[in-house]
Amino acid sequence: MQPEIRIVSNLSELHRTGADEFTRCAREAISARGLFAVALAGGSTPKGAYSLIAADQRDPAKRLPWDKIHLFFSDERNVPPDDEESNYRMANESLLSKVSVPQQNVHRIPAELDANAAASQYEAELRNFFKPKPHDWPRFDLIMLGMGPDGHTASLFPGSAALNENSRLVVANWVEKFRTFRITFTFPVINHAAEVMFLVAGEDKALVLKEVLQGKEDVYPAQRVRPIDGRLLWVVDKAAAKLL
Ligand code: 6PG
Repeated sequence: MQPEIRIVSNLSELHRTGADEFTRCAREAISARGLFAVALAGGSTPKGAYSLIAADQRDPAKRLPWDKIHLFFSDERNVPPDDEESNYRMANESLLSKVSVPQQNVHRIPAELDANAAASQYEAELRNFFKPKPHDWPRFDLIMLGMGPDGHTASLFPGSAALNENSRLVVANWVEKFRTFRITFTFPVINHAAEVMFLVAGEDKALVLKEVLQGKEDVYPAQRVRPIDGRLLWVVDKAAAKLL
């Protein structure tokens, strides 16, 4: 399926579009399968979208049945959940603590542990939740992602070992430039999703976005996000899209 590229005027419109797409996917999955399994993106860009989803719950027309929603994380920093670097903390402060989601529906990466132990535990949690058949992969309804100025996505960084992982669902990935491990979904998990949505904002992403969308293939990790049987949506603001 050809990726859809939606260019919006500014960051607040990007957040609005991201929040509405989350709600649309949730409604669609719940009416089709009674359940919505979503993986949240980390970093700073999605926070505003999470806040809007939480605020939307005040509107009966936009309210979601949180007991039917299971929230996972596409990646995490190797830190405790209350650390300022924690993607869980960001999502909890902007969304999870503000909606009536049952605690057992929030599937946090136990990133306070040793990175390899955290990745193995989280892989077991995904297998327990999705119960994929042997040699099959979990199928998220929606995976949310961001992209760094170096073209990384989730914690799949250029030149890192996890780029070539084809059997694990979740791995501990050493990131040389930060001299630390990250815990991240692998490409097969991302590419088996029903929908993958990138939220990308800011002029500092313009050059890499042009190269990722219009440049030579397979140079950047973000280019390897190609859902096998799913939809790929890029929501980008004008500043990030200025070279397209
Ligand atoms: C993380 C993210 C990472 C992020 C990009 C963009 O844990 O940092 O998963 O992939 O999406 O680095 O980050 P910003 O949104 O902060 O620019």
